[in-house]
Amino acid sequence: MTPVFEWREAPRAQYAVIGDPISHSRSPQMHHAAYAALGLDLRYVAIRVPVGEVSEALEHLRSIGYQGVNVTVPHKEEAFRWARWSDSTAARLGAVNTLRLEDRYALNTDIYGLIETVGDAVPGGGRAWVLGAGGTARAAILALQELDFEVVLTNRTAAKGESLAAEFGAVYQLAWTASGFDVILNTTSTGLAGEALPIDWTGAEGCQLAYDMAYGGPNNPFLAEATKRGISARDGLDLLVAQGALALEFWLGQHAPRAQMAAAVREA
Ligand code: ATR
Repeated sequence: MTPVFEWREAPRAQYAVIGDPISHSRSPQMHHAAYAALGLDLRYVAIRVPVGEVSEALEHLRSIGYQGVNVTVPHKEEAFRWARWSDSTAARLGAVNTLRLEDRYALNTDIYGLIETVGDAVPGGGRAWVLGAGGTARAAILALQELDFEVVLTNRTAAKGESLAAEFGAVYQLAWTASGFDVILNTTSTGLAGEALPIDWTGAEGCQLAYDMAYGGPNNPFLAEATKRGISARDGLDLLVAQGALALEFWLGQHAPRAQMAAAVREA
């Protein structure tokens, strides 16, 4: 388990991840593996920040010398509001996961991490199926559209799915049929609970990637079903590494050692 600090008792360090809960975070191990590989004497810690205290906590961390902060659930929107600058992709989403404290510049490296990992595995321009309609689905749709995929969305609560699809110019599909997609992205948290989605996999043989945004579930039914059909499967640890590598590159201006970072999160 990662040691967790309360924000008022934050130790001397340069980088942190904030969230609530945060004790499950593998980011400290991942960033320390990168610092070791790069020969850097830096410290990255996990800090708990309750809802509503994000601005105050970020000001405090900046005042005691922190340089950068990653932001996880449920603070990505609150962090966006604290930021003074962001790129247009993060602004479109209204949520950020990476902050440079000195100038309050914010990025959403979840989106770029998705672009990197999906783009490495599947040529863009095909059809993508997104399952779920929460905050993670929003980031997934933006990333897939950046890669020129036609995005189709399905959600348990149809009204929520339809309104998200309309907001981003995606197509809403009521049925859980996996036929005819090049990539399927599960943004629901069902995998963590070992719960199966009601997917009909008939006709999904042409799919090149099944990607679950969650990680840590020992038996993820979505990925197990995909693997059984010969579809290449990835879980959220690939995204964790990609977004962390991109954050490190933004903060330090050095190429991030992705292989060492990946080894550290898989061991954690
Ligand atoms: P996040 O910010 O991680 O996206 P969220 O906003 O809570 O989390 O969204 C969770 C998504 O998972 C929702 O689309 C939710 O469906 P509903 O809109 O119907 O609530 C979906 N989800 C959660 N549990 C699910 C389940 N057992 N079966 C199907 N979808 C589920």
